[in-house]
Amino acid sequence: MSLNLIDENKIKDSFASIGQEQIFRFWGELNRTERSILLNQLEQIDPLECQDAWKEINLLPTPVLNLQPPPAIRSTDPLDTGLVSMHESGEEMLAKGKVAAFTVAGGQGTRLGHNGPKGTFPCTPLKKHSLFQHFAENLSFFTKRFGKCPRWFIMTSQENHTQTRKYFEKNQFFGLDKNRVTFFQQGMMPAFSMDGKILLQEKNQLVMSPNGHGGSLKALVESGSIGLMEEEEIECISYFQVDNPMVYCMDPTFIGLHKASGSEMSSKAVKKLSSEERVGTFVQNGESLQVLEYSDIPQKISKEKLKNGSLRFGLGSIAIHMLERNFVHRVAGSEKTKSQGLKYHGAHKKVCCLDKEGSRVHPSQPNAIKAETFVFDALPLACDPLLVEINREEEFGPIKNPSGSDSCSSSEKLQISRNQRWLKVIGVPERLNKVEISPLFAPTLPYFLEQTSKFPLDLKKLSKESALIELQNT
Ligand code: UTP
Repeated sequence: MSLNLIDENKIKDSFASIGQEQIFRFWGELNRTERSILLNQLEQIDPLECQDAWKEINLLPTPVLNLQPPPAIRSTDPLDTGLVSMHESGEEMLAKGKVAAFTVAGGQGTRLGHNGPKGTFPCTPLKKHSLFQHFAENLSFFTKRFGKCPRWFIMTSQENHTQTRKYFEKNQFFGLDKNRVTFFQQGMMPAFSMDGKILLQEKNQLVMSPNGHGGSLKALVESGSIGLMEEEEIECISYFQVDNPMVYCMDPTFIGLHKASGSEMSSKAVKKLSSEERVGTFVQNGESLQVLEYSDIPQKISKEKLKNGSLRFGLGSIAIHMLERNFVHRVAGSEKTKSQGLKYHGAHKKVCCLDKEGSRVHPSQPNAIKAETFVFDALPLACDPLLVEINREEEFGPIKNPSGSDSCSSSEKLQISRNQRWLKVIGVPERLNKVEISPLFAPTLPYFLEQTSKFPLDLKKLSKESALIELQNT
């Protein structure tokens, strides 16, 4: 689209008025087409939001005076008989189609360095199914159980949207009804230099990056997904990240607890491994349940110990939430700023960009600040938020890095030990070094117990020490 001179001046003025005139540093070198590419990009960006974001990134953390460990319900044993009624009411919600699954997959996955969207990364120990396939099979289990595929919303970003869609199309949506899977893109924000100047990728193009998983709330509304849920009377959303293959994508017990407590947003928590673990920490700040990001929590607080030696603030966030549809609507419809009232945080990253002379910089140290909002910042805005402590070995095996901690190999090990534990629960005597349990057969421990009580276990031996448990002909 070509813009007239009035529009051009308006855009230039609006960025100059927030001290970002350097965006036009190379204007004189650009031809007509190049100029209109830049102007079209700038038209999509709200200068006031950029200004607010930079201010919020630089706000000193509010002093934390009287933090307390938050109250949490313990649900560390998925087979806890005390929670059976919760499981049943969660199942009822699922059977009535009241719950949608929601995967946030818009991140750049820079640490993993995989060629393609993170969701296409192979994650299971034997079959090497991708994260997306693994989640699709989880949802297929519920399709078979309740006769209808749950709605699945997948948030992508500009960088990986087309590739993600194509991947599902190429794989026939892994057997899911493609009309039940909705992809939508999250918003993007410019990246800043360390002194707050918006960076250029090219002489006529800004460096842009996804606006953080907090952007998912706004994107759910703007994409029409919340409207679709309203039409179908879907009440709540099971939120999970694309990089944790061990997540219970749909967890009836968690859904039941969430509904029974009347909570607008519920979160799962696990015991942190140490005060240094790079996960957010749940705290009670007066009336508010909050998550303090690992970079924001004062050391004195994170290291505090109880008499028994455990961490006083020992509950970490693993980014698994239940969200009420109406809550998302309310929060994301907030007039305050485009960031829907969620504060921007700054992530220090290495970003290729142009320097003042127009030469390309390939930094070896972080040189840029990306502006991101976090979904857990919605917790203090929720009525009656609920925290549920679960067993980390059961549901948390993230894949973030190519090796070492939170990598594919650490996740595989955790998946295998979980599968070994499940087999032990049903009394399988032999110890298999490698075992994979297809989510088509059972996506959670309670379902595994139910399935194996109905059908003889079909261990497909791959070698002396490894086996697959797949869907049986039932
Ligand atoms: P991470 O914070 O681990 O970021 O995202 P990432 O982009 O996947 O990886 P790095 O930091 O570049 O290595 C946690 C989850 O939140 C999603 C990611 O896709 C992942 O599921 N996410 C993150 C978004 O959907 N959008 C974002 O803007 C950021």
